[in-house]
Amino acid sequence: MNKKEKYEALLPRLEALMEGEQDWTAAMANFAAEVHETFGFFWTGFYRVTGGLLLLGPFQGPVACTRIKYGRGVCGTAWKEKVTQVVPDVHLFPGHIACSSLSESEIVVPVFDDRNEVVAVLDIDSREKNTFDETDRVYLERAVKFLPWASSEAVRERD
Ligand code: SME
Repeated sequence: MNKKEKYEALLPRLEALMEGEQDWTAAMANFAAEVHETFGFFWTGFYRVTGGLLLLGPFQGPVACTRIKYGRGVCGTAWKEKVTQVVPDVHLFPGHIACSSLSESEIVVPVFDDRNEVVAVLDIDSREKNTFDETDRVYLERAVKFLPWASSEAVRERD
């Protein structure tokens, strides 16, 4: 299967996994696991916006940085700009936060609530350069919309 076909098969699985799940941790944990297993990425996980920072959430892969400031690194930039960051070579991204020296490329997708506020980011890292492109951006932006708080009351109770 090529990348597009993998995403086409992945999206319904993610939708089914998220259906009826209102708990953040449970939802993010299974979401990260499903994406990670499908592609065999180096690191797949979430940072949640909490207490004015991005705080490490459920993930698959090696130990990672726990807190990221607004506007810092790829994750903090995605939060600030409210735009997906596709980074073909992390060494060329100004301010990139190297949680692991093995990460070579990265994509970070903001997760929005129904007020268009960023509530989390999905961060995926690859051991190779140029792993992520428009296909990843389009499908992952669709995928994060399945997360339960994207349009739920849960988001108002988050802090
Ligand atoms: N590289 C990210 C930090 C998170 S780790 O890759 C898991 C960044 O620059 O925001």
